[in-house]
Amino acid sequence: MDPTKQPTSSQQPSILIVEDEEGPRESIKMVLSPYFNLITVDSAEVALEVLKRRPIDLITLDLKLPGQQGIDLLQTIRQQDRDIEVIIITGYGTLQSAMEAIRHGVAAYILKPFNVSELLAVVDQTFERRRRMTSLQGSLQAFGNLWAGETNPQAAIKNIETLLEAKSPELAQHAHRVNFYASLLAEHLQLSLEEKENIQLGSYLHDIGKLSLHDRLVSAHVPQSEQNQELIKCHPVMGEKMIQALPFPQSVTQILRSHHERYDGTGFPDGLVGEDIPFLARVVGLANQFDHLVVGQNEPPIPIPEAREYIRREAGKGIDPALADLFAKVVW
Ligand SMILES: [Fe+2]
Repeated sequence: MDPTKQPTSSQQPSILIVEDEEGPRESIKMVLSPYFNLITVDSAEVALEVLKRRPIDLITLDLKLPGQQGIDLLQTIRQQDRDIEVIIITGYGTLQSAMEAIRHGVAAYILKPFNVSELLAVVDQTFERRRRMTSLQGSLQAFGNLWAGETNPQAAIKNIETLLEAKSPELAQHAHRVNFYASLLAEHLQLSLEEKENIQLGSYLHDIGKLSLHDRLVSAHVPQSEQNQELIKCHPVMGEKMIQALPFPQSVTQILRSHHERYDGTGFPDGLVGEDIPFLARVVGLANQFDHLVVGQNEPPIPIPEAREYIRREAGKGIDPALADLFAKVVW
């Protein structure tokens, strides 16, 4: 059947399955068909045709395809639509290729052979996160006037994601990636569900204080004068102020304020030392540092293995040694 015309029910979210091998394609279909509208295609080219013609909420993407490769398709999708959720399902993955995919903003990465409940759980989590973000955006809309003035007023009343995008797409992408790395770490820590949710939220919001900075201070790749660096250093406190009126748990607020503290006390804004830095802020701070290393903020980007080594060397200096240790185990 023509994949652009496969029938759907309007009640359920639509998932586009991009998979050329019949076996995995059939198992993905089997797992997801009771809950979602599914459209299946076997190449990147047909996937793009489908995306042009109908709304899709989520894509499961095989990286190894005939013709155009999955990673190129991902890049094209991101140029056209930043919103669509993408889950990579691949038989050829390494954590390194996963990290590359994460740079392009994928929601998750699953290795074949996958188990049925794992896939369903990941898809559910992705939609759940999206729902949470939508309700967060809703509650922030109510406080949209908080951001009037510094930012474009139209963007200010839309939502936080649009705000970040409007300020700088780099800022929005950075928020997504830090959210991913922090969530990856959180999965390996003994945390309550509430703490995990606070990490999700805090990692996503950690840099919103930058909305209060002048645009030219926000671009990650522009070298900044010493004076400007001092201005940029205000963003943790500004971020905390921006959400003060909102009903966020204290630990989310702490993530915003303390994600630039360093374990040895040389960070900012408070110069907190070691365990005095709120734990969730330490987790998000590490994710933030890692992202700056591999994407390149003030310095050129470095490869993932080098960034991993850097994190290891920073144990006890900039980074909580226990977290640096865990990070080295999670990112291999
Ligand atoms: Fe920051």
